[in-house]
Amino acid sequence: MTDRPVLAPTRGELAALLADARRAGRPVGLVPTMGALHEGHASLVREARARVGDGPVVVSVFVNPLQFGEGEDLDRYPRTLDADLDVCAREGVDVVFAPSVEEVYPGGVPAGSTSGMVTVEPGPLGSVLEGRSRPGHFAGVLTVVAKLFGLVRPDVAVFGQKDYQQLALIRRMAADLCLGVDVVGAETVREADGLALSSRNRYLDDEQRTEALALSRALHAAQEAAAYGLAPALDAARAELRAAKAVDLDYLEVTTPGLDSLPDPVPPGTEARVLVAARVGTTRLIDNMPLRIGAAPHDQTPDQQGDH
Ligand code: PAF
Repeated sequence: MTDRPVLAPTRGELAALLADARRAGRPVGLVPTMGALHEGHASLVREARARVGDGPVVVSVFVNPLQFGEGEDLDRYPRTLDADLDVCAREGVDVVFAPSVEEVYPGGVPAGSTSGMVTVEPGPLGSVLEGRSRPGHFAGVLTVVAKLFGLVRPDVAVFGQKDYQQLALIRRMAADLCLGVDVVGAETVREADGLALSSRNRYLDDEQRTEALALSRALHAAQEAAAYGLAPALDAARAELRAAKAVDLDYLEVTTPGLDSLPDPVPPGTEARVLVAARVGTTRLIDNMPLRIGAAPHDQTPDQQGDH
């Protein structure tokens, strides 16, 4: 184990720790997290390190109340700062910014339009997919990420592709509001059996974990069947999800890589994204993968393919 990174609980301490690097013109990397760090987060840190070289890498650990809706898991969300510091030490993180709620929201956590605090409006992309099931979620995410960008002033910020819509929205925010941050998306890290790593996986018991594998199986099935068109891709994914009795599907959708609706009909060879969200027990899981629609002659079904 290498030395633990320096813990900065306040904005002032964070600024002081980054002052030298800023003066020397060294690039700053940021990996925003809500803690409960796992190998997926470690891979984001490695990506940030690769981008900033000897510049400081900052990991923020903050469970952001603003992005949790009523009845969601804010209270039970795992808080494991000590173990998080160990992960950060192993990955050579320089600074862990772990502020209190009061430090991030000194005027109180904004509640609705009456709070008086300026928040970030995600626009139409914020109310589809995850946004449809979790109203207000992306306003909460973008507001805290904008604050983190303001406090850390990173040159590069790294986010996981597992939260694909979040990544798309943060990219758009950085571009539309000219924030001057290079937003990097890193590949999803998976267990050997395909389960995408998530801090929420620790809520699953053994049986639920086995059932949760249906999500990645469904995405792989969609990828394979996509050669025969969009409908076969969706059918193949739905069949996997239906077979897992404990999986309560929220949505399964295929979109463009930018999360727009696909054209109808879909031209062969179209690059797309398949996204799924489901509840397993009380745990809500999401996952996504890229796919290419209609690489095979698109009027062929998998069955017809076998006849030739
Ligand atoms: O992906 C997360 O962990 C959170 O949504 C983020 C980006 C750290 C904002 O709270």
